[in-house]
Amino acid sequence: MIRFLSKIGAKKLQKKTVLLRLDFNTEDDWRMCAVLPTIKLLLKNDCKIIILSHRGRPHFAEAASRGKPLRLSVADGKFSLRKDAVELVRLLGREVAFIDHFDFARIKKMVASAPQGSIFLLENLRFIKGEEKNDPKFAEKLASLGDIYVNDAFAVSHRANASVAAITKFLPSYAGLELEAEITHLSRVMIRPKRPLIMVVGGAKVSDKLDVLRYFRDKADKFLLGGGPANTMLAVRGVEVKKSLKDMSDIGEIKKIACYSNMILPVDYAWRKDAIVDIGPNTRKLFIREVGGAATIVWSGPLGLIDVRPYGEGSLAVAKAIGKNRKALSVAGGGETVMFIKKSRLDKKFTFISTGGGAMLDFLAGKKLPGIEALKNSKNPMPSLSRNFER
Ligand code: 3PG
Repeated sequence: MIRFLSKIGAKKLQKKTVLLRLDFNTEDDWRMCAVLPTIKLLLKNDCKIIILSHRGRPHFAEAASRGKPLRLSVADGKFSLRKDAVELVRLLGREVAFIDHFDFARIKKMVASAPQGSIFLLENLRFIKGEEKNDPKFAEKLASLGDIYVNDAFAVSHRANASVAAITKFLPSYAGLELEAEITHLSRVMIRPKRPLIMVVGGAKVSDKLDVLRYFRDKADKFLLGGGPANTMLAVRGVEVKKSLKDMSDIGEIKKIACYSNMILPVDYAWRKDAIVDIGPNTRKLFIREVGGAATIVWSGPLGLIDVRPYGEGSLAVAKAIGKNRKALSVAGGGETVMFIKKSRLDKKFTFISTGGGAMLDFLAGKKLPGIEALKNSKNPMPSLSRNFER
């Protein structure tokens, strides 16, 4: 059973040093804003907070640079979390100490001598290879810094990383407020959703969405497709899409899914040179009607080239129609989709905006997320006695 931070008694939380896993892996602050309530709850309880997070895939970049060793100082600009510390200070209006090294003995001393209510942000965990390998030794070192662990990083909970999964073996572990909200809302889509259930699927690659389409084949009343997924399915059905964005990487599966009877493809399109870049006016009307009559709506992926005017019109029209359907449970996720909804100032009109991209898709495909499974299996262990770690 998952233990939720919202249910923890003040006694268990007061004055604890909390390892808080967050996901700052976006270009703007929306994921950070989503977890402010969790940070505030911990501060209210006089906790010291050590934030753990990541950005990008530095070791992948290192491999791409033909094994040239990655030095933190060199990588600073692109992968460092230093600027996230500055952003946090702006959002919280209080000091955040950025820790730019992984010398655990030094970190422990620093945290021990800091007053209650101090906030620390540790450098990008993915600088350490053990993070993405889910290395229990690295997890234990991280765990040695705190009394309890809180995962409020839904967006990375589909990764079996040390600070997401293995760490729960070493500390009493809880789901933060945002993670709880993600589980609650996405479960409403998964477990006996109100019908009609409409899934709006766009974005670039259909291959990212195949598992969700398959899982909801008999559960969704309709799939409304736009963007790359629509172009791909249209091409498979023999429509001439010329140079439109498509993704034929899993052609066998795509062909099967293209035959689903509840798959609604655009009936007209906006073209830019030789490529389809938005749904057309008749499709817009069709999609607006479908989401207007839905009881549950899930949206992942823009329906056109939202960054180039006027090709965001299809997405905007559908977003507005979802927002107008106040009776429906409406959930949207994925970086581009969320940024578009926020820019269009429609985010408050949705029931829930997920912070997850790949994590939301995995959840909606019925997969077990390592971060969530780890919380379920965590046995509330006593902190380890062997805490004499050096890097
Ligand atoms: C995300 O932004 O989707 C998460 O932070 C996971 O990032 P990853 O795909 O690099 O593991």
